[in-house]
Amino acid sequence: MVHGTDFKINDPSFSTKAIHVGNEPEQWKSLAVVPPISLATTFKQDSPGNHRGFEYGRAGNPTRDCLERCIAATEECKYAMCFASGLAATTTIAHLMSKGDHVISMDDVYGGTNRYFRHVASRMGIEVEFVDATDANNVAKAIKENTKMVWVETPTNPTLKLVDISAVAAVVKEHPNIFMVTDNTFMSSYMQRPSTLGSDLVFHSCTKYMNGHSDVIMGVVCTNNDTLHERLRFLQNAIGAVPSPMDCYLVNRSLKTLAVRMEKHMSNGLAVARFLEDHPCVERVIHPGLPSHPQHELAKRQCYGHSGMVTFFIKGNNLKVSQKFFEHIKIFTLAESLGGYESLAELPSIMTHASVAKEERERLGITDGLIRLSVGLEGEEDLLNDLDQALNKAMKETQ
Ligand SMILES: Cc1ncc(COP(=O)(O)O)c(C=O)c1O
Repeated sequence: MVHGTDFKINDPSFSTKAIHVGNEPEQWKSLAVVPPISLATTFKQDSPGNHRGFEYGRAGNPTRDCLERCIAATEECKYAMCFASGLAATTTIAHLMSKGDHVISMDDVYGGTNRYFRHVASRMGIEVEFVDATDANNVAKAIKENTKMVWVETPTNPTLKLVDISAVAAVVKEHPNIFMVTDNTFMSSYMQRPSTLGSDLVFHSCTKYMNGHSDVIMGVVCTNNDTLHERLRFLQNAIGAVPSPMDCYLVNRSLKTLAVRMEKHMSNGLAVARFLEDHPCVERVIHPGLPSHPQHELAKRQCYGHSGMVTFFIKGNNLKVSQKFFEHIKIFTLAESLGGYESLAELPSIMTHASVAKEERERLGITDGLIRLSVGLEGEEDLLNDLDQALNKAMKETQ
């Protein structure tokens, strides 16, 4: 683990599972060590209705099956189900509910999740209430007779607030009709495993760290709950938002290096956070691994480390200065998304969180001077030098 941190000790067998579970050569006649990409959309049956595990590609595919078994193992869950995008997974989860049901969502969630709840689910008669779930009491207070789902994201995007997963799960467990979902995208299953803390469903946009190469859009839902699994498996086929075999192959391959990638994302991310905290052109840095983070103790208790996500407020905290910063970055690329090997920088107020209403953004502190970094796997010194020169030029040109 990265020097100078005291997060929870991780499972030493994590990589063994990520490399071998679901990938056993014995499952193929050829004994292929790397799972083949199975493109067939249909499978021969021995007699009508009598098949060997696969019948039609939407319902099940051998390459997807390898990936789902592998992700389930990394998340310490019995089941995993993959979808064509993170939002396709969100949509499928929302179909666990019916008209009139009530959802409690963390107020600070990914902009697309917020948009889905506010402008899609609500039009289907699902009532959505946003609360600050950093205090589990707020979740307890919001529970109503018709509450069906509690949705949290931790750390949140982009302000890196933490939700105490065990505390919220304890509230939810008092109500047998309610299930809890944790969006684990920012951490990957290497850095945090919400099912072990009591979350009924664990969600990822695999587009981010789980794939880690910025070349696949995919989502996954994991669970230990047989009833939720059965219903979601039905919905996966009935709604049909499934990923392609090629994409399943790529994400499965990426999981083999998840642990080493995450260790490097963490060490580079921490180096950047510590550097920015001392930089005269920076007002404030948010990183759960820094003692200055208000929930640093919770981070150490709940997580095995942190990813490459770093948020900071540039001095002046305005659009003019942040725009200049983006003009000068060279190694960091100005782009949406996160979790890839390449370092990215973005302005949530105009990019990822533009779909969140202005008043809501202001309430959450998503200002025009808040910059979100996804620190990649490049050389640490190169990243620090790049930030240093871009910050200094941005200050000089706006004074
Ligand atoms: C935290 C989080 N959840 C969900 C999503 C949605 O995933 P996708 O873009 O794969 O649909 C994203 C995408 O940025 C995200 O950052």
